[in-house]
Formats: sequence, structure tokens, C-alpha cells
Amino acid sequence: MAKEIIELVDDNMTAESLEKAVIRGLRGVPAATTRTSFVEPFGALYYSGYNIDDLVDRASYEEVIYLLLNNKLPTQTELDKLKSDLFYAMKLPKPVVQRIREASPNCHPMEVLRTEISHLGEFDPEPDDMSDVANKRRATRIIAKLPTLISYLYRTRLNEDAVIPLQENSYPENFLYMFRGKVADPEEKAAIERYMILHADHGLNASTFAARVTAGTGSDLYSAITSAIGTLKGPFHGGASERVMKMCYEISSIDEVETYIQSMLDDKKKIMGFGHRVYRTEDPRSKHLRRMAERMCQQRDSLSIYNKCHKIETTVYQKKGIFPNVDFYAAIVMHVLGIPNDFFTSFFASSRVTGWVAHVLEQYADAVLIRPTSTYIGEYGREFIPIKERS
Ligand SMILES: CC(C)(COP(=O)(O)OP(=O)(O)OC[C@H]1O[C@@H](n2cnc3c(N)ncnc32)[C@H](O)[C@@H]1OP(=O)(O)O)[C@@H](O)C(=O)NCCC(=O)NCCS
Repeated sequence: MAKEIIELVDDNMTAESLEKAVIRGLRGVPAATTRTSFVEPFGALYYSGYNIDDLVDRASYEEVIYLLLNNKLPTQTELDKLKSDLFYAMKLPKPVVQRIREASPNCHPMEVLRTEISHLGEFDPEPDDMSDVANKRRATRIIAKLPTLISYLYRTRLNEDAVIPLQENSYPENFLYMFRGKVADPEEKAAIERYMILHADHGLNASTFAARVTAGTGSDLYSAITSAIGTLKGPFHGGASERVMKMCYEISSIDEVETYIQSMLDDKKKIMGFGHRVYRTEDPRSKHLRRMAERMCQQRDSLSIYNKCHKIETTVYQKKGIFPNVDFYAAIVMHVLGIPNDFFTSFFASSRVTGWVAHVLEQYADAVLIRPTSTYIGEYGREFIPIKERS
């Protein structure tokens, strides 16, 4: 039966060739056009045409938000307005605050973030307006609220009061301030700003794709960001950096690196923070994060963790020929900034939300349903047996 139906589909295709025709993981399939970012396989990343190497030390994160949402860098007046809009949108609706307080103390912060972004949709002040300008206002409000949400969750878990952001602080600085409850030193301010710039966008990565699929159905921005957060959480995507830190703790000394990595490879396990779907050489974000991690560890007299990571990097390259991705040294930067492991992915989400909303706006403009096909490889014409007769 199966063969007959396959023959109806295409005389030349067997079940095996149908299976082979699937592009597993959509590897190399262009599924959307974008002006927000370009991931160049031989090691470069551009945001709206600007190389991240030029942005990371010279632009502010707010400039990058403006750039990705508007495809141009802001004037001073435009930047001032964006900063003010972000600042005044940071507050959370009371029911969201209440729900964060009630969240299970043991659940992962990304679970709370995913739920509460969705919950925020209930309080959107202009829910029926899907115009581009309304969606840009909505995008700014969502971007503004992520750091507050994450910081509030962390402080609730510590039994500490919420910290009110300061208008004179930049947006990344306020994030650290609200989260840790202390003023950041200049090195820390620069680190969180660079971290957020480097994580802002990255082509059609899995979470951005998820956001665009949701937006392609005409659904709202909160739904699209909720899809993206759920996707980023996975260990093969943004969740990798939390596992990088776990690996660093598991390897008790630099002398154990070789044996640990070899046993992971022998067991065919993935080494977290390594490998990439697109880059065929070093991830261009890694060199910045490595430099930041080294400098911050040096200043804090904690070079041992940096040295261990560097040894992991060289060992994995020698044994497998693969490079660290964004999540490897980002884990060390987060750790040195005093962010607990289980909050790493939430910081990633707070930075990547800019790319998500920018892509969703593009998807709305493109107005196309994203709906690939699947190749059916199951059986045909099976006889239905009533439940009482089944063995
Ligand atoms: C990111 C990732 C999912 C990309 O997967 P992918 O595009 O399917 O990777 P590929 O299948 O093309 O990998 C090519 C080869 O490198 C190996 N490889 C890739 N990443 C690896 C890793 N982290 N550890 C060990 N081996 C790895 C693959 O097993 C494969 O080896 P093989 O040819 O001997 O079978 C994968 O590298 C991974 O799981 N990395 C760890 C998780 C992580 O850091 N995620 C964050 C991504 S930014």
C-alpha cells in the first residue's frame, strides 16, 4: 500500500529517497529575508550593515536597539527619546509582580520569564492596534520590561527588596543595578554593555526563527517573544552557557581538562559552548568575550577559571577542530559579574529580545505564513480496530 501511494506522489521516489530529500534541521535553507543582521560563515557579524567589531567598543546598547529597529543609527535627539521611552516603560503591571512572587522557588528563571512575557500581553495599552508604529512602541515596552522582570525575580528569591532604576543610568547599567542592588564599577558597566551588544541579534537563529514563525501567522508580539524565549532556553541554543559553567565546576583543575574532554568525545557528548551551525571558523563574538573575560578575571585575581577555560578551548580545538561559540566566554563574563548560573540565559534573552522584535517587525511587513512541509514516512491504510478488540 505504502509503495502504491508513494508511486502516486512521484514514480521515481522510494520511501528512502523521500526521507533523504528532507533538509534535516533546515541546514543552509534561506527561509526569510532580513536587513537586521548578517552572519558571515567565515567569521563576521553585521548589524544593519555595521560590523560588530566596530560597534562593540563604540556604540551604546541603546544605539544598537535603535539601529536594529529602524535600520539606521540614531541622532542624539532620537537616542535621547528612546532612552526616555525605555526608562518610563520599565515598570511592571501589579499582577505580573504578584505572579513573580508566587512563582515556584525551584523553577528555572526562563520558565518564569516565558510565562510573564505572555502575561504582560494582557496589559498591553493598545491591544487592537497592529500598525507598524504601535508595534514599535510595543517592542520598546517589551525590551524595557525584561531586565525589571528578571531582576525582580532574582531579588524575590533572595528575599530582598526591588531596586528602583535610576534615570541617569544607561539601560544595561540599570539592569545590573536592579539585579545586584549595587552600583557597577566602570569595568562592569562596559562589560554588561558589550555583552548585550554582542548578544543583540544573530540572523535566523532558532529562537528568532520561532518568533518569526509565530509572527507569520499574524499573531501578536508577546506571543512571538514567548515562542522565542521557550526556544532560547534549550541547551543547544542559549541554555548552553549555563552548562559551560557547570562543566567548569566539574573539571576541578586544569590538569583534568584533557581527560574530561576526551571522555566527553568518546561518549559522543556535545561540549557546551562549542560548535556552530553557520560559522566555519571562530565565532566573531568570541574574541571580544574572551578579552573581556581575561581582563575581568585578571583584575579580580581569579585567573584560574580563565586559564581552565582557555585550556578547554585549545583542547577541544586540538581534538575536534571546533571553536568556542558566543556562549563559552559569555559564561565567564556572567560569572565574574556575579550573575548566578541559572540566570545566564535570562540575560541572553534580555539582550536578544532586540533582535527578536526587529525580526518580528520584518515578518509583519513581509506578511507571509511560514509553513514548510514534512515528508510522511509512516504507514498507510492501517485497519482500525475497536478498542475492545485490541490486544
Ligand atoms: C550548536 C550546535 C547545535 C550546532 O550543531 P550542528 O550544526 O548540527 O553541528 P554539526 O553537526 O555540523 O557538527 C559538525 C561536527 O562537529 C561535532 N560537534 C559540533 N558541536 C560539537 C560540540 N559542541 N561538541 C562536540 N562535538 C561537536 C558534531 O558532532 C559533528 O561531528 P562529526 O562530523 O564527527 O559527526 C552544536 O555545535 C552543539 O550542540 N553545540 C553545543 C551546544 C552549544 O554550545 N550551543 C550554543 C550554540 S550558539
